[in-house]
Amino acid sequence: MNILITGASRGIGRELVNRYNNGKNKIYAVARNIDSLKGIENVVPIKLDLSDLEKVAHYFKNLDVKFDLVIANAGISLPHSPSFTPFEDFKKTFDVNFFSVHAMLEGVVPKMDKGKIVFISSLASLVAAPSSMPYSASKRALNSYAQSLRNLLAPDIKVINILPGFIKTDMTDKNDFYMPFLMDLKDGVDRIIYAIEKEKKEYAFPKRFYYLIKLFNMLPLSLQDAILRKVGR
Ligand SMILES: NC(=O)c1ccc[n+]([C@@H]2O[C@H](COP(=O)([O-])OP(=O)(O)OC[C@H]3O[C@@H](n4cnc5c(N)ncnc54)[C@H](OP(=O)(O)O)[C@@H]3O)[C@@H](O)[C@H]2O)c1
Repeated sequence: MNILITGASRGIGRELVNRYNNGKNKIYAVARNIDSLKGIENVVPIKLDLSDLEKVAHYFKNLDVKFDLVIANAGISLPHSPSFTPFEDFKKTFDVNFFSVHAMLEGVVPKMDKGKIVFISSLASLVAAPSSMPYSASKRALNSYAQSLRNLLAPDIKVINILPGFIKTDMTDKNDFYMPFLMDLKDGVDRIIYAIEKEKKEYAFPKRFYYLIKLFNMLPLSLQDAILRKVGR
């Protein structure tokens, strides 16, 4: 298979590169820092800053590869902050987590006639704490995008939206708050690969955390807000 993975230099993306690099696949691995991806058999490192949307669109329009599996994994999360996010930081979060996905797929999808497109969203898209406004909003936008795309490209191209809870990577190592049900990288990536193999339309995990969030979302808004003001600022 030809596989495209963004955010391939570290964390979840890097583990996905390692797992899919099993001799049967050719992996196109996108990141800004690609040194650690160089010289690996069957891995084609692509140095690209996904916040440079025009460059991203141009690159993928001109890349003559038909992908079987695309994993839009790259993402950023600003340090959690109780203050109002400056516009530039807000925009960068949306550029990397959301707009780069469409900039990339505009060139990639027309060359696919079947296959899978996978988004790495987040459980944070289901509950928006005041301290992580841009991240939650960008991932919620991604959920909406995935739902539209799934029905636009069905039945030949499967769209799979994955909503992980906390997984131990550089992204979560920065957090100084309690992270319930924190998973190690291997377990997290096992679940992601399971969802891709089973062609789950939407797959949220760990289930205990997901059901707690679903219950939370059934509470009256006044109660939700009181809790979010207490624990989410
Ligand atoms: N870890 C979690 O608990 C968790 C939970 C839910 C969802 N997620 C999502 O899972 C995805 C991967 O997260 P992670 O924890 O593996 O994060 P990570 O360890 O911080 O890795 C992020 C990856 O994205 C790449 N990236 C960041 N900005 C980029 C840019 N401007 N251009 C190109 N590549 C860029 C980084 O590569 P370079 O720095 O080399 O460019 C890196 O490979 C993200 O979408 C994240 O939101 C993570």
